[in-house]
Amino acid sequence: MIVPPGPGADLLRVTAHLPAPALVYDLDAVAATVATLREDLSPFGEVQLLFAVKANRCPTVLDGMAALGLGGNVASATELGAALTAGLTPLSVTSPVLSAGLMERAQQAGAQIYLDNLAQVGVWGANAGLSREIGLRLRVPLEASNRSSDDRTGWSRFGLDPADRTLHQLLSRHRLNVTSLHIHAGEIRDPARAQRLAALVVAAQTVFPETESVNLGGGLTYLCADYFAAREAFTAMAATLKQSPCKPRVIFEPGMLLVALAGCLLAEVVDVRPSLGGARHVTLDASAWNLATWSVPRFWASFPARWGPTMAHDFAGNTCYEQDYFARQVDIPELCVGDRVLLSGFGAYAASMARCSHGIAQPPEWVLSNGRLISGNRDDVRL
Ligand SMILES: Cc1ncc(COP(=O)(O)O)c(C=O)c1O
Repeated sequence: MIVPPGPGADLLRVTAHLPAPALVYDLDAVAATVATLREDLSPFGEVQLLFAVKANRCPTVLDGMAALGLGGNVASATELGAALTAGLTPLSVTSPVLSAGLMERAQQAGAQIYLDNLAQVGVWGANAGLSREIGLRLRVPLEASNRSSDDRTGWSRFGLDPADRTLHQLLSRHRLNVTSLHIHAGEIRDPARAQRLAALVVAAQTVFPETESVNLGGGLTYLCADYFAAREAFTAMAATLKQSPCKPRVIFEPGMLLVALAGCLLAEVVDVRPSLGGARHVTLDASAWNLATWSVPRFWASFPARWGPTMAHDFAGNTCYEQDYFARQVDIPELCVGDRVLLSGFGAYAASMARCSHGIAQPPEWVLSNGRLISGNRDDVRL
């Protein structure tokens, strides 16, 4: 992964006069990350890359992913529609809730559907219009870092146990043949975990010997932040998969890795309290609570650029929620009301899962591509 130390010159140029608030995604940064990931995955030989649309469904970002040759992974009718409109191909679908209609629509679109639970296998099997060759999502044990404190099972709530007798009864009743397997259980934090997941998929192929493809999911952000850990993990996974009798095609479907650091929030300072708890308290015209990103926002720049002695700043959002903070104790030169700030870390799981407290509209989305700014909504407005 390319971890940018700060904003590139193009990003600074195009955001300097952009009205705030706004979300800006840098497609050139996405392209660089995709190229690095392809390189990291070279131990597998040929790999199909799908973008997990749940991370960012901005139409122009999806257009950019399609232009980079990526397919898409979707989990709802909305995401499927967005992926199809952008021309992402091939497509995969997995979700704990899939209606019969969505199954049909996805199959018509040529998507690979991975059934998540027994109810879905039953609904699929009973529909004679659907293929008898199916994909299954495998249930996997969770790592401690992915478990909540009240989790008593230690297992992901998604996916199916290949040894489940009811599953095999359903497969034989409906004459279903499993040809594709899927595995995903949050962040893969280290090479050992990566290898355990690959071993699980290989073991499942002894139960489903007609497996043609395996989808190893996403969750690559932490791993790929460390070049050596990523190489070790992918080499070990590829070696483990080579032991499989089926020699399946390999698919990955990262979301956060491809976009997290390529997205920024531009927001305006609407209030400054000189000293609150030892820091200048800045209120912005956007909300950290509403945008709820999983990345930690980082201060990247201010417009105008401020110089001079640094002091701690707390950045609060524009809702009535007490804990609506973007970042605290950010040591930067003194900001004033009317300044605009650029915060990084808004590319993934921000707009795509935003809340709308007080009915405050989400910031409009913009995309930086080849040095120019275009609307996130495909109407191709240039600034
Ligand atoms: C099935 C599936 N695939 C891929 C992803 C993408 O994961 P990430 O954004 O961590 O790469 C997710 C995330 O929840 C997922 O549930």
